[in-house]
Amino acid sequence: MGTVRWSALDIDISSILDIEKQSYRNPWDIDTYKIILSNSSVLCAVHEQDSDPKILPGLISGFVVYRVHSASVYIVSLGVLKDCRRLGVGTKLINHVKLIANHDHMPMINTLVSEYATESQLFLKSCGFNYTKRADTQMRCYKNGSSYYMTHDTDSECS
Ligand SMILES: CC(C)(COP(=O)(O)OP(=O)(O)OC[C@H]1O[C@@H](n2cnc3c(N)ncnc32)[C@H](O)[C@@H]1OP(=O)(O)O)[C@@H](O)C(=O)NCCC(=O)NCCS
Repeated sequence: MGTVRWSALDIDISSILDIEKQSYRNPWDIDTYKIILSNSSVLCAVHEQDSDPKILPGLISGFVVYRVHSASVYIVSLGVLKDCRRLGVGTKLINHVKLIANHDHMPMINTLVSEYATESQLFLKSCGFNYTKRADTQMRCYKNGSSYYMTHDTDSECS
């Protein structure tokens, strides 16, 4: 149905911005993405469609941006095109991050979710993430409510 590959930002940025607009209430713009991705520890991968008969081949249907720390990976942003949701694209993007974390012996993958982002929470739980602690900062897009770290323990899938 498709593959996850590293993003060539010059080629993929307009697709990433389209998905970003469908995925977040206050989407980041191109300048914000350029700043985030100029950090040498931040990486981006995209999911590119191939053989699904209902979806245009070559279509970028999802992306993930993540920051690599010394002992963990932090997911900065992840989104899937509305028309391509519930087809496993988000899970494949998370699996890509798990592979990187495993390969580099990083035991944790973290991300921040708002208490109101129920669908994101359910998605993350289905990918093996659990609530760890309340965050001091708000998740982007949510002015009210609390945010929580959700964490995946990569060792739990290796043992
Ligand atoms: C959250 C998001 C990335 C999920 O992407 P996706 O490609 O649809 O996810 P998958 O198809 O891999 O879903 C895997 C499982 O997660 C759960 N899940 C995903 N979306 C869900 C939803 N809207 N409601 C309830 N459970 C959901 C289900 O258990 C699903 O398995 P199933 O389809 O067999 O029931 C996508 O909805 C999205 O881009 N949302 C807006 C941006 C966002 O919330 N990003 C933060 C993610 S941390």
